[in-house]
This record gives sequence, structure tokens and C-alpha cells, in this order.
Amino acid sequence: MTVKTIETSPIAGQKPGTSGLRKKTRVFMEPHFLENYTQSIFDGIGGVVGKTLVIGGDGRFFNDTAIGIILRMAAAGGAARCIVGQGGLLSTPAASHLIRKRGADGGLILSASHNPGGIDEDFGLKYNGPNGGPATESVTEKIYACTRNVTSYQILEAENVDLDRIGTQSLGEMTIEIIDPVTDYAELMGTLFDFNAISALFQGGFRVAFDAMHAITGPYAREILERRLGAPAGTVMNGTPLPDFGGRHPDPNPVWAKALMDIMHSDDAPDFGAASDGDGDRNMIVGRNCYVSPSDSLAIFADLAHLAAGYAGGLAGVARSMPTSAAADRVAMAKGFAHFETPTGWKFFGNLLDDGQVTLCGEESAGTGSSHVREKDGLWAVLLWLNILAVTGKSVTELMRDHWTRYGRNYYSRHDYEAVDSAVADDLMQALRARLGDLPGTSVAGLTVSGADEFSYLDPVDGSTSSGQGIRLYFDGGGRAVFRLSGTGTVGATLRVYLEQLETDAGALDHHPQEALASIIAAADTIAEISTRTGRTAPDVIT
Ligand code: G1P
Ligand code: ZN
Repeated sequence: MTVKTIETSPIAGQKPGTSGLRKKTRVFMEPHFLENYTQSIFDGIGGVVGKTLVIGGDGRFFNDTAIGIILRMAAAGGAARCIVGQGGLLSTPAASHLIRKRGADGGLILSASHNPGGIDEDFGLKYNGPNGGPATESVTEKIYACTRNVTSYQILEAENVDLDRIGTQSLGEMTIEIIDPVTDYAELMGTLFDFNAISALFQGGFRVAFDAMHAITGPYAREILERRLGAPAGTVMNGTPLPDFGGRHPDPNPVWAKALMDIMHSDDAPDFGAASDGDGDRNMIVGRNCYVSPSDSLAIFADLAHLAAGYAGGLAGVARSMPTSAAADRVAMAKGFAHFETPTGWKFFGNLLDDGQVTLCGEESAGTGSSHVREKDGLWAVLLWLNILAVTGKSVTELMRDHWTRYGRNYYSRHDYEAVDSAVADDLMQALRARLGDLPGTSVAGLTVSGADEFSYLDPVDGSTSSGQGIRLYFDGGGRAVFRLSGTGTVGATLRVYLEQLETDAGALDHHPQEALASIIAAADTIAEISTRTGRTAPDVIT
């Protein structure tokens, strides 16, 4: 087997975003595109000589072909060992766990998360470091610099690897270890949660509907919920991963998981519903007639995670991304543990977790997780909820009501305007930025702006600063609107508007979020000139 050096030249647009590089699948399939980026990752991390890498993806179209190429490039680069999920499959949290458990030097995760899959949809690749978490900004900047200077890449001339055969095989000098993608992860879950209590809940007739959305968590959920915990067969819906996710967006929110929402709002609704996304790191939680916003889910965990064995010792602290509601902060303040506000994206939690400053993290975008891995973790969130439900004996609705009564309710919603012309979106943000100094004191839609700024984060662990992380408007009375442009989209720009209003009046805890937020929504639209600038009269997605 010989190593071939292939001449190439930089390809524009290989800048990693919020979570690695995401592009249309056909773009990733263009000559040299994947190879250039993979070589840049290897170069950006100082080469792979002698290293052990974990490799796996969410099974979307092109997953196995891409893994074949990456393996031949890793072998050419001198890597010692690659640990690969059978069939090329690994959920993102399972990959994070494997990197940590096996002491690997890093990993490559192939996924575009909740974006649709297929030859005409999206693909993605990201690098995670030795702590199991997404590469920090300093590393992604090095990778990006390499993409702009790459002139050649190395690849082993070899047959494709059989990704289905469990066990070890050789590729040139490199060892490839194909492992079951579920086993290690399922064992980790067993150490964090009281499986006996959850089993007993199921035996008592508690019914769950879990929608795997034809994505990666199907095999994980079947093994854990149905086999290990004894939930009836059929608890896991859409449990077979498909390369195109059945043509749907594998995005666990009320829009894309509408079928599950309908089940949970039907007369014969199960007690608990949940869904996870393409690569298994996001979650949606819904009780009978009761959708739990991700920000509230994080707050419930901050309050009650200690009921699960893995967190019985209490929490060091909780971190949330800036656009996430302040509900978790209110718990942290009441209970006296630390709380942090970080930029959007899981990579910013890694330092806090590694440094032991926080135990729980969460984002409004359906992501919650803890120190057990360095990614958000969809099934983990489902199991923590089930553990809390089993110990308290309460329903989801009762838990939410108790929580709001005690801590107040942070009404919350996110409005997304998708595929907006990039120049229009940039101008909108720029115009807002230019007015930040003038806005405080002005009144719009009956609300007075009390503060306005652009979020900049000083990492308390490594001292690095990340600026330009979203524009925040605060209103008298505890309201907030945040504006930022998505870093994961693949077409035009996605404008995200995050809306929040704190309510502590016990008589006003049951409103529909869109109604409770009506004034903030109107003020946000007026101040940012959303409809005038984009021509849109309503968001494309409301979560
Ligand atoms: C989105 C979410 C963000 C999440 C990321 C990866 O990023 O908003 O919270 O970490 O996906 O799942 P965005 O498209 O907003 O940059
Ligand atoms: Zn995801």
C-alpha cells in the first residue's frame, strides 16, 4: 500500500462555524473538498502521527464514503489507531464519551446535526479534542488557516475498509478498531441514573413515546429504554437510522417533531414524550399536554438533578448560552451555586467543565448536558427527566407548575427567519449595532429599553475573549430580546431572535408564550426593522 500525495489548492468557504464545517452534501462530495478539510484538520492539530482518533457519524448520506476517505488519510498521516463505530455510526455524545474513555487524542464527527440529510441536503464534519469536546476557537482558527494554505494532501491507496465487521483490522500501518456504537454509552448512562427506579416506573404502567426521527438515537434508545429499562417494544418510534432521515428534518422541536406533539396532546397521550436530533445531542421534552422549553428543562435539572445518583453530591455550577433564558440562573442564585453565561455553541462550555466550575450546561436550542461528556446529550436528558419523574412521582405538568411557582416563569421563544439574503441580514445587524448607544431610555411597543449591548465573552479559564456574540436588548420589567445570525446554516443567513419575559405573578403563569411575549416580539421587530428590511411578516420557525 502506498501513500499518495495529491496536489490541491485552497477551496473558499472552509471556515468552521458554530459546530464544525457544514455544507451541502454535494459540496462535500466535490473533488478535494473533504480531503482539503480533513488535511487541514490534521495539520491544524499538529499532525496525527502516532495518534488515536475516534471516528463516527450520524449515518446520513455520504457518511460511510467520507469515513473511508478519512481513514485512508489518517493512515497516510501516520495515525496509530482509529476507533470507529460499527457501520460508521456514533452519536455525538457517544463519540465524546469514547474519546474520553479511551484516552484518544481527538475525534472526527460526521454530522450536520438537525439539518436534513441526503445528496441534496446537508453534510458536516467537526473535530473534537482530547477532552471529548468540540475544538476550541483557537484550534478551529488554526484549522481554518490551514484550509487557506493547503497545497497537497496525503492519502493511502487501499481498498475500502469494512466498517461493519466488529474487531480490529489493519490499514497500512494503522490499526482500525470497529466497535459497537451503543455499548459504552449505555454503560455510562447506567452509572449516572437509577435504572431500577426508571424500570419500576415503566412496570407501573408509565408510558413513554420517544421519537428517534430516523436518526442516530434509534439504536441507543432501543437498547437503553426498551432492552435495559424494559419499556414496551414500540416505545421508540422511527428507530431505524436512514441516510435521509425519512426526508424530514431530524430536529426535535414542536415544528419538526409535530407527530410526537400531536400524540402528546391527544386524549390517550402517554405520560412522557421525547425526541432527539440527527446526531443525538439535542432533545425535546414534552409531558401530557405540556411542552417543556429547553431553557426550562435546564432549570429543572439545576433544581433537581441531585435526585439522580450521578449528581447526588450536588452541582458545582450551571452554564447556559447567552440566548438561553435566565431560568437556570434563578435556581443557581437560590441554591447558591455558580452560574455562567457563554456564547452560543457547546465549545464554550468545555473549559468550565474541564475546570470543574460547572456540572450542568444548556442551550435554548434543545441542548442540555453535563460533565459526563463534553457535548450536549439528548438521551441523557431524557433519562435524567425519567429519573426525576420516577423519584418525585410527579407528572411533567406538576413539576413545571411547582417550578414556576417557586422561581417564577421565564416565558421564552425563539423566532427564526431562514434563508434571508446575507447582505440584508448583515445590514440589519450592523444597523442595530450602530444604535446600541442610543436605544436605552427609548420606548417601543409600550416597553422601555433599559440596556443594549453586544455580547462579548471573557473565558474565565483560559482568558480568551470572544466578541460579536449577539446583540442584547433589555427592557424594563424583566424582558429581553437577543439578535444573532446563525453559524450553522448552509443557505443565506438565518436571523435568530430570542425573546424572554420574566413573570413572577403566581396568577399569570399559564399564558401561551407567544401571548406573554407579544410586547417584546413587537418591540424587537420595530427596533430591528425585521419586516421592513427582510420583507418577512412572520418567522419561518417558532420554537
Ligand atoms: C445552533 C444553535 C446552537 C447550537 C448549534 C449546534 O447554532 O443555535 O445553540 O450549539 O446550533 O447544535 P446557530 O445556528 O444558532 O449558530
Ligand atoms: Zn445535533
